[in-house]
Amino acid sequence: MKKPPKPSAVLKECLLEAGALIKRASAKEKRIDYKGRLSLVTETDKKSEKLIVGKILKAFPGHGILAEESGGRRPASPHRWIIDPLDGTTNFAHGFPVYCVTIAYEEHGKIMAGGVLDPTRDELFFAERGAGATLNGKPISVSKTPALSASLLCTGYPYDRCDLRRAKYYIGFKESFITRCHDVRRTGSAALDLCYVASGRFDGFWEYHLNPWDVAAAYLIIEEAGGKVTGYLGEPYRIDGKQTLASNGRIHGEMVHVLRGYMLKTKEPEDDAKEREEKIHGRHA
Ligand code: IPD
Ligand code: CA
Ligand code: CA
Repeated sequence: MKKPPKPSAVLKECLLEAGALIKRASAKEKRIDYKGRLSLVTETDKKSEKLIVGKILKAFPGHGILAEESGGRRPASPHRWIIDPLDGTTNFAHGFPVYCVTIAYEEHGKIMAGGVLDPTRDELFFAERGAGATLNGKPISVSKTPALSASLLCTGYPYDRCDLRRAKYYIGFKESFITRCHDVRRTGSAALDLCYVASGRFDGFWEYHLNPWDVAAAYLIIEEAGGKVTGYLGEPYRIDGKQTLASNGRIHGEMVHVLRGYMLKTKEPEDDAKEREEKIHGRHA
């Protein structure tokens, strides 16, 4: 009998093929549609996802899928693949070369393998649970930066920033950090931001309202690289949770302190939690 393929091998193949597809498409005219006022989607997002889902289901027909563009399937299976076929779509659409494709493989609710491929730099970040994290096959680890005052941070602003009250709330977090660190970047690809924490290029990252497909793979990559990922107050991380705080571990406490301070003095404007829930759980049920 033919041996079943290894999920991690299929995952890497999918990343490389989708990465090549994105690279070819980057030189061509982009067809842009809108999912929301600020949320773009291109033909390439959809083609990349079709390629990945097709390959995974060919190798593992009984597995579940949670993929950003096409929704998903949840058969009674403990195996699930979590896919963002193009993270950083706004950058891609504008020709700004910071985007990637990211895939995680989950068993019984635990991420077992994850990969993030940046086709503009040919960088493949990868981790398997318990086996460490790598960049193009070489081990990586988080930075040794000991204090917030010496750190380079990164953040992102979710799409509900089209509501001015929420935009101001998010900018307030940045204001709280900007005077306390070397600088704060906003690259536009959360999966790459997290991999840059894993590889020591950034010391810390925070963002509200990321989706499981943005974070699932990179979460494992950071943990395997010796970093820490939690909610804003240091609580255990959930890939379908509201907040992502990632760091090299050493500056985590200071980051929690700053986040707590801001949240204590600032009332969070209402957000459409129902719509978000539906997006992650309902639509894909
Ligand atoms: C977005 C990017 C961006 C982050 C947004 C994400 P997309 O993903 O990761 O950096 O700020 O919250 O939704 O839409 O380009 O796949
Ligand atoms: Ca994304
Ligand atoms: Ca995407």
